[in-house]
Amino acid sequence: MNTRLDGKRLVVTGGASGIGRACAVEAARAGAAVLVADRHLDAARDVAESIRADGGRAEAFAVDVTDAERCEQMADRAAETLGGVDGLIAAAGISAAALPGDPAEHDGSAAGLDWSTDVWRRVLDVNLDGLMYCDRAVARHLIAAGDGGSIVNIASISAAWTSGNASAYSVSKAGAWMLTKALSIEFAAHGIRVNAVGPGFTETPMTAATRSDDTARNDIVARTPLGRFGRPEEIAAAALFLASDAASFVTGSILYVDGGFDAYSR
Ligand code: NAI
Repeated sequence: MNTRLDGKRLVVTGGASGIGRACAVEAARAGAAVLVADRHLDAARDVAESIRADGGRAEAFAVDVTDAERCEQMADRAAETLGGVDGLIAAAGISAAALPGDPAEHDGSAAGLDWSTDVWRRVLDVNLDGLMYCDRAVARHLIAAGDGGSIVNIASISAAWTSGNASAYSVSKAGAWMLTKALSIEFAAHGIRVNAVGPGFTETPMTAATRSDDTARNDIVARTPLGRFGRPEEIAAAALFLASDAASFVTGSILYVDGGFDAYSR
């Protein structure tokens, strides 16, 4: 069984922070060359620089995943700078709470009818449409190269579970999971595997506000059989497995990495 990634060339979106950052760093440690792609170029550069300082291979790239053309350029750049593309770990994403603007409008506490169209549209644009643009752009290169490959979409426990007041996010992640299944079938003939990781609540900037709220944090911990939040590296371990040849017969799957949250809460 080979869980190493030596010789593989991976694009990691959302690579500047949290889960994506851990995926980029750990993939490089496992031997992959990585294009660290993110909306925040400076932060992506810092990640690429720290990977290189650690002896790995990495480049940074600025992408807003809602820009389909830029996603194509991202895959092209990976092929140019890394000498080809073998896979994608797609971690770029937002919660409604991450949206700019009036916090009262965007903090995720609004009930369904009170969600503004902008909030709904933006969450779906990034988490679902943007994911499709990235998967498609990388798949074009994988198909052209004719040597298979692996696409890993970072979905969520929200692919199949929802709480109140998170409709846009939950729908986006359910869509990400269905996109994963659909593409796994479409791309199978090319030897391209497409899987998802379903993280539970994880210690990243995305959950900083939730973790600092005693009631919200305790509720999540109580619903999680292992009794804690996950660490980004624990999510990355699953993504790296799916990206590796050790997962050579795994496609169309979602791997929950959630301390038992899905088993207990759904
Ligand atoms: P994070 O906020 O730490 O990192 C997200 C990264 O995505 C940031 O670097 C951000 O700049 C980038 N990004 C956001 N919008 C972008 C865009 N339009 N184009 C390019 N890059 C963009 O969040 P975290 O927690 O690391 O989330 C990573 C993924 O994991 C997301 O898809 C999230 O939905 C998912 N997830 C996170 C969970 C958690 O508890 N933290 C739980 C389940 C899923």
